[in-house]
Amino acid sequence: MESVARSQSAAELGASATHGAKLIYRQSAWTRLTHWLWAISLFFMLLTGLQIFNARPQLYIGKQSGFGYDNTILEIGAENTSAGPRGYTEIFGHRFDTTGVFGWSGPAGNETARGFPSWATIPSYYDLGTARVIHFFFAWILTTTLIVWLVASLTNGHLRRDLAPRLDDLKRLPRDVIDHARLKFHHTREYNTLQKMAYGGVLFLLLPLMIITGLAMSPSMNSVLPFLNDLLGGRQTARTIHFIVMLLLVAFFLIHILMIVAAGPINELRSIITGWYRTDPPAQDAAKSLERNA
Ligand code: HEM
Repeated sequence: MESVARSQSAAELGASATHGAKLIYRQSAWTRLTHWLWAISLFFMLLTGLQIFNARPQLYIGKQSGFGYDNTILEIGAENTSAGPRGYTEIFGHRFDTTGVFGWSGPAGNETARGFPSWATIPSYYDLGTARVIHFFFAWILTTTLIVWLVASLTNGHLRRDLAPRLDDLKRLPRDVIDHARLKFHHTREYNTLQKMAYGGVLFLLLPLMIITGLAMSPSMNSVLPFLNDLLGGRQTARTIHFIVMLLLVAFFLIHILMIVAAGPINELRSIITGWYRTDPPAQDAAKSLERNA
């Protein structure tokens, strides 16, 4: 890892300049490798997770689930109506017709009752066993990747240099929000405040919470860490938190892709694949910082 840090600073020193813009070595091999490992893991975990959810397309708060309890907060289902079978989604008692997507979906004339549609699940047909095997396989890959990322980022300085929040970040936040809203991006070595918040939120809040709530749902883990379930308000609450974190990660992913496309996808993709990133010409940078300080 030390050699990575050394080769990074050597590469930075040797950064090439084209038309005033500089090509710098921004993402270490560890950042790139772990990034793609968790992107692949989360893809499979999302689609197999939706298949597992389909086995019981309801979410509850608390320790119990079943006919005798009134603690359902979300339900996806199908019902017979005078217009034929319809799919519905009920959130906190408010029912929405979601035919074609949630509850009742499939090719015209061949629709079936299922929570999430077949295009959103792995396998596309109902197979809980296969989904669970794939889900747990990638859960361990994701957990190992996060630990590797943490050790590498502590050792090569990525965490301290690029992600740790500074007082300056707080001052820059309003300007950053305005710039993002206007889709105006500065291509510099450093992450901006919103990037630090989003990446930090995913790496230190959402992914650990996903892993902890996943462990809390596992019966074998209950014997190893019996307090985990109670700490999270019961297995059903853990399952609901797991689902909400999934929604937040999907939201992050959509915004992440939107920002990458808006900031210049070729440059952004090159940096997360090869490590090399083209920064704004220095003159422009200086002008921007003058503008910012004005
Ligand atoms: C579930 C999927 C994904 C998650 C959770 C995720 C998360 C992240 C995180 C946490 C970082 C910061 C990494 C660090 O600094 O250590 C990052 C950076 C980045 N990601 Fe993703 N990512 C995902 C998918 C993707 C995809 C599909 C692409 C490309 C199309 C992509 C492109 C990038 C780029 C270009 C950066 C560097 C941004 C920059 O340097 O300004 N990511 N991602």
